[in-house]
Parts: sequence; structure tokens; C-alpha cells
Amino acid sequence: MTLITDITSRRAETDAALIPALVERFSPRAYDPDAVISDETVATILEAARWAPSASNTQPWRFVVARRGTPEFTTVHDGLLGFNQAWADSAALLIVNIIQTTDANGAELRWAEYDLGQAVAHLSVQAQHEGLHTHQMGGIDGDKLRAAFGLDDSFRVVSVSAIGVLGDIDALPEKLRERESAPRTRLSLDEIVIAGA
Ligand SMILES: Cc1cc2nc3c(=O)[nH]c(=O)nc-3n(C[C@H](O)[C@H](O)[C@H](O)COP(=O)(O)O)c2cc1C
Repeated sequence: MTLITDITSRRAETDAALIPALVERFSPRAYDPDAVISDETVATILEAARWAPSASNTQPWRFVVARRGTPEFTTVHDGLLGFNQAWADSAALLIVNIIQTTDANGAELRWAEYDLGQAVAHLSVQAQHEGLHTHQMGGIDGDKLRAAFGLDDSFRVVSVSAIGVLGDIDALPEKLRERESAPRTRLSLDEIVIAGA
């Protein structure tokens, strides 16, 4: 059994000293299938999302929070594409990340997706601080999830986050096991800063 308890191999090799939650954050696929996240911690990570900034403070993010073992979890899991279903079942929580696409007057909320991404980022960093890990997924059937939760077409399901406690890599299918130990890479600052570095 290979538990990712020594996460040093997954830590980001940063060129500057970052806060621990950012250095230690990565997107695992091996989660402890028995871990339970307390109600208090769930409320804490959602609070981090709630206090994210958004364009004109429109706060267009909406969430469905599903705990493993509940009918909602099965519904969310059914809305993942197969390659994500293969591992996400052992996460303690699946959170559906949704945007409200229009305001009360029907005008487009132009920055909604950007705002949601920022809220999810805040949630992920707070989750990391709470000793959890998060893995976001775009590989989902958004329309299926939207219908399953009775949302009209002013909503759009953008992604799903798997959240939990690190688990046994050996429990993963072989292909995924290899990915869990693959080197983590990033573009250099030179490549991402177009001017002004
Ligand atoms: C919007 C978004 C969609 C993603 N979709 C998937 C996905 O469907 N399946 C998956 O295994 N990982 C998915 N990922 C995880 C990325 O592949 C991962 O964040 C990236 O490879 C960097 O790895 P790290 O998060 O461990 O640093 C997604 C991440 C983001 C932000």
C-alpha cells in the first residue's frame, strides 16, 4: 500500500517562498475512501469561496455540495465523464461549481466564469490549509448535472471539485497510478510574463 503521506515529492518547486498551502497544493486522484470531513470544515471552505472578490460584487457562484454515501454524491458522480468517475468515487466531497449567467434583469454576467474560478481557487487554498486536497474537473456532463439538480438555463455547470484526504495510490487503476508520480511542471516566469518582469 502506498499512502501519499510523504507529499514532499508532490510539493511545488517554487523559485520564491510561497505560503505553505500553495506549495503543498496539488491535484491528487488517490483519496481515503473512509475519510469524513466535518460539517464545520465544509462550512469553512465554503466561507472561503463566499468571500472571494467578484465583478461589481455580483457573486455569481453557486454550489451543490455532495458527501460520499449520499444520493446527491451518486448524482454528481454520474455526471462525471468516465475517466474522472474512475477515481473520484473515493473523495469525501464532490462540489459542483455553477454560475448564474444573467442578473435579475436578464443581462449577461460577463465575468461570471472568471469569478467562479476565483471562488473555487479560494476554496481550494482554504481546503489545503484544513489538511484536505482538492482536484477540479472539467471532464463532466454539465447539462446532465444542471438537469439533475433542477436548474434552469440561466445557470451553467462549469466544473466539479473532488475534495478529501489523501489515500492509497495502489488502489488506483494502473494508468492513473503512474500519473500520481509523474513530475509536476510549469512554464517559467519568462514564458508567462510578456512584459515587465
Ligand atoms: C478547470 C480545470 C479542469 C480540470 N479538469 C480535469 C479533469 O477533468 N480531470 C482531471 O483528472 N484533472 C483535471 N484538472 C486538473 C489539472 O489537470 C491539474 O490541475 C493540472 O494538471 C496541474 O496539476 P496540479 O493541480 O497537481 O498542480 C482540471 C483542472 C482545472 C483547473
